[in-house]
Amino acid sequence: MKVIETIPEARRQIETSARPRVLVATMGAFHRGHVELFRRAREAAGSDGEVIASIFVNPLQFEPGSDFEKYPRPEGADEELCRQAGVDTIFRPTSAEMYAPNRSVFVDETALSTVLCGRSRPGHFRGVCTVVTKLFHVLNPNAAVFGEKDFQQLAIIRRMVRDLDFQIEIIGVPTVREDDGLACSSRNQYLNAAERNQAPALRAALLVGRDAVQAGERSTERVVESVRRRVETASLARIDYLAAVDADDLQARDTIEQNALIALAVFFGQTRLIDNIRLP
Ligand code: PAJ
Repeated sequence: MKVIETIPEARRQIETSARPRVLVATMGAFHRGHVELFRRAREAAGSDGEVIASIFVNPLQFEPGSDFEKYPRPEGADEELCRQAGVDTIFRPTSAEMYAPNRSVFVDETALSTVLCGRSRPGHFRGVCTVVTKLFHVLNPNAAVFGEKDFQQLAIIRRMVRDLDFQIEIIGVPTVREDDGLACSSRNQYLNAAERNQAPALRAALLVGRDAVQAGERSTERVVESVRRRVETASLARIDYLAAVDADDLQARDTIEQNALIALAVFFGQTRLIDNIRLP
């Protein structure tokens, strides 16, 4: 496994290789969700292809006052996990390598980014789109794998690829969960014991919503209300947003129609967790 830290080095490696390349873009602090993305990337690349993991805690997507400084960076463990997962190349640039101090060009998605997490985290998706564009340009992959846990991020990247004509296949991977239903996340390690105990309420609440729809409920308001009541049984939970939206345009609808999705973001203390569920 190669570890590459500069853009010229990455370009050299790519110029000399005719193998299909599949990118898994990450911020490190790996868990089983990331491992599943590596597995899916290998499947897409084939045994002769190259699986590249980028590891970069992207300062541009952390809004002021958020957890950029304390975001976990277990470099050695991440490297070992990549090796075990069969990753061929790690691209791990520094901030200085990625961003000129007087940078002035950004990639801004202007519709899907205005709702849900975009409303709570101004500038977040601009940071994501900008860094993913840079990674696409530098590493020029044939395909890139993203998780459905970050459903809005995946939708925005698909939109960006369509609108800016990137010739890259985007592969979505279903959310990987802990045994109690909590979606794996690098931020779960911020939770204290009491918060961690209550955090599976997110998944439980989403299942309540799905059950209601399955039982015939079509009113978005009533479905969302049933989810809210279940989240609120967790005394430490503070809802940031909770919405049922169309999975393509992420806009709210009065009634639950085909292709709907419930998405939520909930704080436990300072820790903000997200999850979502597709509706039948
Ligand atoms: P990060 O949070 O490290 O996530 C990297 C990838 O792993 C994303 O595609 C994310 O959706 C996926 N992922 C995270 N948890 C998952 C889970 N439980 N199941 C399945 N997939 C999961 O997302 C980012 O980094 C950044 O925004 C990035 C795209 C790298 C841009 O900086």
